[in-house]
Amino acid sequence: MKLNIALLAGDGIGPEVIDQAVKVCDSISKKFNHEITWQPALTGAVAIDAVGEPYPDTTHEICANADAVLFGAIGHPRFDNDPSAKVRPEQGLLKMRQKLGLFANVRPTFTFPSLIDKSPLKRERIEGTDLIILRELTGGVYFGERGRKDNNDTAYDTMTYERHEIIRLAEKGFKMAMKRSKKLCCVDKANVLESSRLWRETVQAMEKDYPEVEVSYEFVDAVAMRLVQWPSAYDVMITANLFGDILTDEASVISGSMGLMPSSSVGSKVSLYEPIHGSYPQAAGKDIANPLATVLSAAMLFEDMDLTDEAKAIRDVVNKSLAEGIVTEDLADGAKAYKTSEVGDWLAQNI
Ligand code: IPM
Ligand code: MN
Repeated sequence: MKLNIALLAGDGIGPEVIDQAVKVCDSISKKFNHEITWQPALTGAVAIDAVGEPYPDTTHEICANADAVLFGAIGHPRFDNDPSAKVRPEQGLLKMRQKLGLFANVRPTFTFPSLIDKSPLKRERIEGTDLIILRELTGGVYFGERGRKDNNDTAYDTMTYERHEIIRLAEKGFKMAMKRSKKLCCVDKANVLESSRLWRETVQAMEKDYPEVEVSYEFVDAVAMRLVQWPSAYDVMITANLFGDILTDEASVISGSMGLMPSSSVGSKVSLYEPIHGSYPQAAGKDIANPLATVLSAAMLFEDMDLTDEAKAIRDVVNKSLAEGIVTEDLADGAKAYKTSEVGDWLAQNI
């Protein structure tokens, strides 16, 4: 198969982890006879420095015409403490999600048998956890009307949802649940928010189309608690943009390291694959960041292309590296820590 993949390394550790995913994908394409053309493009703070904006039109063109986008991370500390900055790297991410129509963010959380004791949560609580948070990604308070009034003394952000936005996300959730354990949880704040009541009403009306799926409705504050108490009780969860942002960071600690969790963002056209960790600027350029989340994101890419053997080969080699202790310092636990690039080389060689 010929694959044309846009490669957006971005900021911080982005380029380092992306390099390892490229090594792994190239090794996969050699083994399975594919031909990948990588199309590098600028995004994030590096794009601001180069051309003055974080998601330039040239980058959008490359992404929109690609078969998939592989993305590293964006963000730079020099913008974080400067509330007056006019352009920020994060705006690029939001613009990209919106322009590519990536309305559903798929964030799985699972445990690795060899790492179960690395989690800050007790083994008996997390064993068997295998859940997916499906986060709405192009609506809600991230994209609602915002501003200042009353001489700048009042600020507001609006959480707006239209029924069709909820339907298209929930459809993905129901379909995903059908392929898994047929359990779907709608996470909202319907005891307070009108937009959440629309979510609930909309999802309830869809239940009849998926009679086999058992749907539960839970408030986001309670879910925040239960997610670390009994994560294995959940399977597919659907939720609004901001709730999903918060819950997926929380869920990432279950596996033991944020450096392990992959994600995909999908819509009606091209899909994007990225690690859920950020740009981790303290580690940038040191060759110490964990590349596995990005490598596993590449596995999700192959899976979505129906290249399941390729995806499995990646997951298998990742499991092997974990079992054999070929890991970066976040997982080394006193034993030898390998460099980011060494882990990438090892994975590529062992495929
Ligand atoms: C994420 C990130 C982004 C978000 C930021 C960087 C804008 O936290 O992908 O979860 O809030 O969506
Ligand atoms: Mn986030």
